[in-house]
Amino acid sequence: MFQDITTLLLDPKAFKDTIDLFVERYRDMNISVVAGIEARGFIFGPPIALAIGAKFVPLRKPRKLPGKVISEEYELEYGSDCLQMHVGAVEPGERALVVDDLIATGGTLCAAMNLLEQVGAKVVECACVIELPDLKGRERLNGKSLYVLVESH
Ligand code: PRP
Repeated sequence: MFQDITTLLLDPKAFKDTIDLFVERYRDMNISVVAGIEARGFIFGPPIALAIGAKFVPLRKPRKLPGKVISEEYELEYGSDCLQMHVGAVEPGERALVVDDLIATGGTLCAAMNLLEQVGAKVVECACVIELPDLKGRERLNGKSLYVLVESH
């Protein structure tokens, strides 16, 4: 089951409407950091961060960030992967929004939340454009709130 968001990006109105829906929801939630997951969280996260006046923090695959990092491993269907975040990018007590294009099994969002919580941030919510509900990823988020625009069965 593969969902491709690049066609959405070809339609400026649809892309802007997508960003606006997130901005409308998060503008008054006192969020100071938007954490975007590599790779497609880097497309949706920054315009949301700019619009709500938050900083953007990239959560990257291993060996991509140049500074000192903290890491969180997570399981994939075959094998495992890892997300990393720069030490010092997020301060204890900050209110964070995690952004990605899609939730499937939920492992990636779980790792992202763990990184932020490791440094003492509060994850207010996770936001994705698409959810694949049949994979029950939402159940892996330990009750953390997840906001999605589209469900794909
Ligand atoms: C996709 C997607 C999410 C993740 C969701 O990324 O963009 O980041 O999978 O899957 P999960 O909920 O089962 O963890 P992908 O693994 O294709 O990596 P990429 O963005 O680097 O291509």
